[in-house]
Amino acid sequence: AKRVRIPHLREMKERGEPWPMLTAYDMYTAELFDEAGIPVLLVGDSASNNVYGYETSLPVTVDELIPLVRSVTKSVKKALVVADLPFGSYQVSVEQAVATAVRFMKEGQAHAVKLEGGKHFAPHVQAIVRAGIPVMGHIGFTPQSEHQLGGYRVQGRRESFDAVVEDAKALEEAGAFAVVLEMVTSEVAKQITHDLHIPTVGIGAGPDTDAQVLVWQDMMGLRRGRAPKFVKRYADMAGLMSGAAQAFAAEVRGHQFPGPEHTFH
Ligand code: KIV
Ligand code: NA
Repeated sequence: AKRVRIPHLREMKERGEPWPMLTAYDMYTAELFDEAGIPVLLVGDSASNNVYGYETSLPVTVDELIPLVRSVTKSVKKALVVADLPFGSYQVSVEQAVATAVRFMKEGQAHAVKLEGGKHFAPHVQAIVRAGIPVMGHIGFTPQSEHQLGGYRVQGRRESFDAVVEDAKALEEAGAFAVVLEMVTSEVAKQITHDLHIPTVGIGAGPDTDAQVLVWQDMMGLRRGRAPKFVKRYADMAGLMSGAAQAFAAEVRGHQFPGPEHTFH
């Protein structure tokens, strides 16, 4: 199996071939998604909500994420593994950003890192890239700034259109290898995808980005409750797992499990 490398992502953009990206936080999901041909896996700080049970992405720490990253990188044969830098681990200074990115590469054995922020984080991106670490940008609605942004709001409408384009260009100039566009209008996503040489990865950004990313627990229906408009459900994992747990419970209570075929003599 040939490993996915950053130039391959750019080649797919040039050929006009959209590519998929999913989150993964552990061994089995990493193995399955890698074998399914997902070229890029993201160990997102969305582990905060989807693994650790926090209400937002803010509380999760570098120490909580690194073991998940290591588990994913150990479990893939081809996929490029991107590690998300969590809130507070890079905003303090350019030096802090480089030090945190180095930890994810060294201790997590990630292949690249991702951080949120536009032109104000271009110096951080540039410094990490100069340290030899590929960086994926992330702009539009950035969950680590949800309090500052006033909640989950679509970005890139009217007066913020140019600001989002400017952020994207600043990240490309700083050396980012790709940029996530989260919850932006399809109009601004299309413009950015056209203007940039590096791939754009959309989540709630419409059909015109170079790649699409979703959180696996959302798109496979493990997380219950109302999903955002941009999520499509491809499976009902919650139904499947809850059904299995209930069937097991009923069979234990009804003296049906274990049967003779599960029993040693
Ligand atoms: O943490 C995450 O899962 C992400 C993706 C939604 C892009 O940042
Ligand atoms: Na994230």
